[in-house]
Amino acid sequence: MAKGLLAQVPTEKLPVHIGLILDGNGRWAAKRGLPRTAGHRQGAKVFSEIAQYCREIGIQYLTAYALSTENWKRPQDEVKAIMDLLRRYLDEAFQKQKEDACVRFLGDRTPLASDLQEKMQRIEAESANNDRIHINIALNYGGRDEIVRAVRTLAQRCAEGTISPSEISEQMVSDCLYTCGQPDPDMILRPSGEMRTSNFLPWQSTYAELVFMDVLWPDFTPNHLDQAILQYLQRSRRFGGV
Ligand code: IPE
Ligand code: IPE
Ligand code: MG
Repeated sequence: MAKGLLAQVPTEKLPVHIGLILDGNGRWAAKRGLPRTAGHRQGAKVFSEIAQYCREIGIQYLTAYALSTENWKRPQDEVKAIMDLLRRYLDEAFQKQKEDACVRFLGDRTPLASDLQEKMQRIEAESANNDRIHINIALNYGGRDEIVRAVRTLAQRCAEGTISPSEISEQMVSDCLYTCGQPDPDMILRPSGEMRTSNFLPWQSTYAELVFMDVLWPDFTPNHLDQAILQYLQRSRRFGGV
């Protein structure tokens, strides 16, 4: 049940699927004279709290952008620190979420360390039947990369003769994405003051309401989420209609 600012809002009015761009960890740390990694650590902690809050108020799908295909450009030790943090985080967070969150990882896993890949696979398998909340973690995720993969899959089917190019539909493309079977995000939320989506869910978010907030992710609280949802509720969603 929603509390606080959303207390009067019926659950069915809430966005079904929220996409979150977890941004601003580095700046948060820099402001405190700390290494960027400290920002990532705090960011992971805040994500657990927000995921828990989303679960409480009845959000059904939450997708968090944790590492993009472009983030490998960062110094190697930062990328390594993010991976190490993730390793620990997945163990701890999953213990807590175990009973009712269905976890899925979006992105190309092949460049990740094999122990991490195994952990991801295990978490997905063990949580597959949970349905209180679906949590997607976009890790080494790039929207263009995702679309290229879908194109390759469909091209392969054409080459094999299982489908013809004229049969390719939007639904078939959607079914080839990492988010296959899930509803498109209703709202994409980016904290940190940046107003761009940085290769996050380009296919899925064509009709998502974009909400940008001037707060660094490690400072993000449930009250910020309430404010974002209130903004979302004021939008008139027309999907091309009148
Ligand atoms: C987001 O925070 C986390 C990742 C992209 C991994 P940043 O690390 O991008 O933080 P800023 O944007 O530099 O403050
Ligand atoms: C987007 O943040 C990616 C993630 C949050 C994982 P970035 O910090 O990488 O985005 P840009 O570089 O500011 O566009
Ligand atoms: Mg950033």
